[in-house]
Amino acid sequence: MNEVRASAPGRVNLIGEHTDYNGGYMLPTTLPLETSVALTPRSGRTVAARSLDLPSEATAEFEIGREAQRRSWIDYVQGVTWALRDHADQISGFDLVVTSTVPIGKGLSSSASLEVAVARALNSAFDLEMTDLDIAMLCHRAETDFVGAPVGIMDQMVCSLGDVTHALFLDAATLQAEKIPLPEHMEIGVVDSGLSHSHASGEYRTRRRECEEAAAHLNVPWLGVLTIDDLPRLADLRPPLHRRARHVVTENARVLASVEALRAGDTAILGRLFLESHASMRDDFEISTPDIDRLVEIAAGDTDVFGARLTGGGFGGAVVIICARGSARIVTHRTAAGYSKTTGRDGRALVPVPQ
Ligand code: GLA
Repeated sequence: MNEVRASAPGRVNLIGEHTDYNGGYMLPTTLPLETSVALTPRSGRTVAARSLDLPSEATAEFEIGREAQRRSWIDYVQGVTWALRDHADQISGFDLVVTSTVPIGKGLSSSASLEVAVARALNSAFDLEMTDLDIAMLCHRAETDFVGAPVGIMDQMVCSLGDVTHALFLDAATLQAEKIPLPEHMEIGVVDSGLSHSHASGEYRTRRRECEEAAAHLNVPWLGVLTIDDLPRLADLRPPLHRRARHVVTENARVLASVEALRAGDTAILGRLFLESHASMRDDFEISTPDIDRLVEIAAGDTDVFGARLTGGGFGGAVVIICARGSARIVTHRTAAGYSKTTGRDGRALVPVPQ
């Protein structure tokens, strides 16, 4: 049977962190890094998948309809076929070859890009007629209900609906997505902190629970319905819930202000919002680390930089930098080198992709 090829990008969130599972706003964009798959249907129910990036690993096999967690990359593939169980009679087994340039565990959505690439390949191989939004929602179910990472909808939405020349303004409450052009005079850089993270584990889950508890105390369905005018109400919450809620409320306001700044091409305001967002993640949501704070300071101190902040789930991963067009390559190298020298960690420029 014919081979089908598909790919999906990694993403970086510009602003709007830990707002998605609170019914709030986000502003991610995609990166020139991607996961590519080649899928060849075969008769029967067996899926045989291998990664070109893990040449020493044996081909992983599973049966459609008998997916079971293995705590390995194959779970993202199993998650997608598991989430497609209502269409089980429309798909057959397949051979899958995967390769990716999205680094793992850096907060750049390597998992969502794999899920979306697999779902796109299945969509065209078996004529499933899923829209990009259907694919995003399917992949989100794969991640939360099968893989078991209690994440929000942002990553799957932007990996499925986004592109590199736009930021995607997302509303998690309505699932509306609007493309906002990125200003011509701005360029995006990403620097890795050398600290890895995992969202299936502890702290992400704890933050999510804290937000749910805060919403329940305040008698609202989710924190995203609150605005800056509601800030005085947060004083009734026990610590640290009031700080967690304050982050979500102020971060949502910062996303709206960032959309306006992008529309006006005002990178100075956008840069200031980035720094405020980082401070809120550091002090109120407490998902940064002293080394990552240092990385942000070093980036923000560069004359070509408008702003910088920790991006993604936190507790490790990468920093997103916005800077003058044409300067991102040198800025990210300068920042990574300064960071490695100060902290002894392995700072690396990830975007623009080193040549
Ligand atoms: C991870 C999750 C997203 C989102 C971010 C934080 O990337 O996958 O759903 O919650 O963290 O903004």
